[in-house]
Amino acid sequence: MLIYDELHTDHLKVLGLIDELLDLPDDSDEEYRSNLIRDIRDELIPHARAEERILYNAIRRQREAPPGMIRSAFEDHFEAETHLRKLQLVDKVNGNWRDVAERLRDALAHHIREEETQVFPVAMDLFSESEANRMGREFAELKDEVREEGFMKTTLDMVGNVLRP
Ligand SMILES: [Fe+2]
Ligand SMILES: [Fe+2]
Repeated sequence: MLIYDELHTDHLKVLGLIDELLDLPDDSDEEYRSNLIRDIRDELIPHARAEERILYNAIRRQREAPPGMIRSAFEDHFEAETHLRKLQLVDKVNGNWRDVAERLRDALAHHIREEETQVFPVAMDLFSESEANRMGREFAELKDEVREEGFMKTTLDMVGNVLRP
């Protein structure tokens, strides 16, 4: 599958999970809610790490890539993950999870829109269809690896991705 289709499928999935969370009543079952938040994390983090490595760093290796575009995407990932960690925390201490979930949704929706309308066209210009297919395969494999590794080292991996290539 082309990497753009892999990424788009994930985007819909993570936004769908956040909508599911926002549809819950304020007095929803705590365990159900925190499982849903964990599902959001399990979608979001492996997606972001694999996307940085496979898509963004491939773009960065090309001279023609607009440098501000990549930086802004990495900042968006960092921002979304900050909202996500806060969401996990306020949920545990019984704070206002809805406000944080809404901020996470807004930040992600904005990022995904930019990614699909600005980053995808740049990548489509740079890479052939067979390259985009190979990247799709590598993206799916790396996502599974990140999931298996667990999330302890993901912040370090993010720093590594920012520094690369
Ligand atoms: Fe993405
Ligand atoms: Fe992204």
